[in-house]
Amino acid sequence: MTSSTALVCDTEAWKDLKGHVEDIKKTHLRDLMSDVNRCESMMLEFDGLLLDYSRQRATVETMDKLLNLAKDAQLTEKISRMFNGEHINSTENRSVLHVALRAPKDAVIKADGKNVVPEVWNVLDKIKEFSEKIRSGSWVGATGKPLKDVIAIGIGGSFLGPLFVHTALQTDPESVECAKGRQLRFLANIDPVDVARKINGLNPETTLVVVVSKTFTTAETMLNARTLREWITVALGASAVAKHMVAVSTNLALVEKFGIDPNNAFAFWDWVGGRYSVCSAVGVLPLSLQYGFSVVEKFLKGASSIDQHFQSTPFEKNIPVLLGLLSVWNVSFLGYPARAILPYSQALEKFAPHIQQVSMESNGKGVSIDGLPLPYETGEIDFGEPGTNGQHSFYQLIHQGRVIPCDFIGIVKSQQPVYLKGEVVSNHDELMSNFFAQPDALAYGKTPEQLQKENVSENLIPHKTFSGNRPSLSLLLPELSAYNVGQLLAIYEHRVAVQGFVWGINSFDQWGVELGKVLATQVRKQLHSSRTQGTTLEGFNYSTTTLLKRYLETSSEPQM
Ligand code: F6P
Repeated sequence: MTSSTALVCDTEAWKDLKGHVEDIKKTHLRDLMSDVNRCESMMLEFDGLLLDYSRQRATVETMDKLLNLAKDAQLTEKISRMFNGEHINSTENRSVLHVALRAPKDAVIKADGKNVVPEVWNVLDKIKEFSEKIRSGSWVGATGKPLKDVIAIGIGGSFLGPLFVHTALQTDPESVECAKGRQLRFLANIDPVDVARKINGLNPETTLVVVVSKTFTTAETMLNARTLREWITVALGASAVAKHMVAVSTNLALVEKFGIDPNNAFAFWDWVGGRYSVCSAVGVLPLSLQYGFSVVEKFLKGASSIDQHFQSTPFEKNIPVLLGLLSVWNVSFLGYPARAILPYSQALEKFAPHIQQVSMESNGKGVSIDGLPLPYETGEIDFGEPGTNGQHSFYQLIHQGRVIPCDFIGIVKSQQPVYLKGEVVSNHDELMSNFFAQPDALAYGKTPEQLQKENVSENLIPHKTFSGNRPSLSLLLPELSAYNVGQLLAIYEHRVAVQGFVWGINSFDQWGVELGKVLATQVRKQLHSSRTQGTTLEGFNYSTTTLLKRYLETSSEPQM
């Protein structure tokens, strides 16, 4: 067992797994897959989902050893501490309670001794009421017109999660029906090109701007917010801001200072991490404006279903726990530094970008939660694209180059089925044929002997050989409704937490993003003084000085 300052790599279970790697190296997935009992034990069903992890480079013995690691890492206790609202984000002295954001109304979840569920539902009720006013047209803009378009300004966790859910729902039949005549756009980048793109074709008279920022200090978001405030005031006058701008934040004082009516601010709490905030007003407000609260409530229920499963299911049947343990196995023992997220669903095209932040901002750490340097790597490089697009892009490397464990995510029932008479299969079946084929191609590969039998010429055999033995897992969702989107989100959130708990790091802080921000402040000051007073460049190294000089001498920024 780990004491509070010991590292997990010193536990018996970790050492045991290190030794076990040699056994696994002697196996090939081709053989492992022929053991039906093993495969059967690696299938798991819950609430309509089917998880198949039989294509992991793991045996029943490996799973037992990973469960021992969970024990030695005190995973049960760590999960309980999270649900009990203890300050497990110790470097920020905060609870980690995104599960409270989707808890049923009668649940009791405490932070600092106080049940937070009623506060959560107060905000949800307020969002319901407000979004209904906007959607019904009973709330109108400064010139009396209904607000049919929404621009949500935010970045990182105040953007990626809501964008993922919005993209997933855009073609869901129920959501389509509810979104008729409305548009939701996200403005994240401080690049003025993003502003130009997002306001293109919109009329300030019919647009509502939602400023989303946990801190309300993020430089990009605040400048974008000021830019759109200007867009509104130039067109409609300063008093229009009250009708056309609302905010989501934990910092209501700064919201008011910015000029947004505090009555039109939707709160959340410091026990919600930015990347875990999609189920707070951060996601719920823009999504309710677009799709109506009842659709978003289903999304919350899906996430809550996984929360309960995660909290109460024994580890050997617990989807996020097993996924987390297998990721630790792949990273720390088999030495695979990356993970590909491959949804066979265009609607999930923004899932990988969201998980990049959830996973890499959470687990990309260099020290333990107690500040000890880690002698092992944590986190993995997450990336992905929907299938089949990815197949025509980077799959070459996955099949014959580096070994990258893959998550295949498939959907049984398409949101938008198409079948053309005379075609061999429907369009969705065509897509799913690839979903079922790729994991086997990776696992089995193709041997030189097989190629010889096919009379492939000798010189091409090395090029056409596939080593196989490349791990993946398959997750099959019954459909992609708001409920299922919520399930998928929560599975990945908890999987990332499990990995962090096992590695013994703090998955809920993000000090690594700060240094770059500080250096940008110095550059911003210099750009201002150089442009307004012609001040010479000072305090930068040769490289940055040269680049800045070129930028200042040749750029044609508007006069200040
Ligand atoms: O810079 C990283 C970060 O702090 C993320 O953790 C966060 O999601 C994002 O910036 C946006 O922060 P905020 O919601 O406070 O604007």
